[in-house]
Amino acid sequence: MNLEDCKDDVVKIVVTEEQIKERLAEMGAQISEDYKDEDSLLLVGVLRGAIMVMADLSRQISVPLHMDWMAVSSYGASTKTSGVVRILKDLDTELEGLNVLIVEDIIDSGLTLDWLQQNLVTRGAKSVKIATLLRKPDAAKVKVDVEYVGFDIPNEFVVGYGLDYAEDYRHLPFVGVLAPHVYGG
Ligand code: IMP
Ligand code: MG
Repeated sequence: MNLEDCKDDVVKIVVTEEQIKERLAEMGAQISEDYKDEDSLLLVGVLRGAIMVMADLSRQISVPLHMDWMAVSSYGASTKTSGVVRILKDLDTELEGLNVLIVEDIIDSGLTLDWLQQNLVTRGAKSVKIATLLRKPDAAKVKVDVEYVGFDIPNEFVVGYGLDYAEDYRHLPFVGVLAPHVYGG
């Protein structure tokens, strides 16, 4: 779908391009400070939604870092989480002794990240923390400890800045609420 049609399906902008830029700069500065005395930092991006956050956040981090990627099952073409997590693409990096920072686009139920964090801990990482651009209210129900949060947003289905609905809308430069008629809501 072209960018103009994507924009037409957004009923409300939740986070603007400018707000994302400013907040990621703050988060990057904080992460740089927190890891400055550590000897490793591996950013683990969760495909595919986190690509924009990874690209922009990593460029705001001044300490040495490496990147790796994982793909886990998520919503597919539905707007409800399944709670079932499956690894579709695993890391290429051995985590033994490394400081890992999971980079995510959004935490909704928190089920995905809760599972992922525990999974990476069992691989012998020195630490496994989480950075997410967006967090929805339901995330509070699962006791997943998120170190870095960009924005707390209302409980609505959002798209843009990496977030999709049926693979469309990822290239929107902002985060917005998708018109319910698009997914039959
Ligand atoms: P959770 O397991 O419920 O926290 O869901 C995590 C994943 O669901 C995210 O990484 C997204 O891929 C997807 N997701 C959750 N909420 C939204 C949304 O509002 N729009 C698009 N994708 C979402
Ligand atoms: Mg995701």
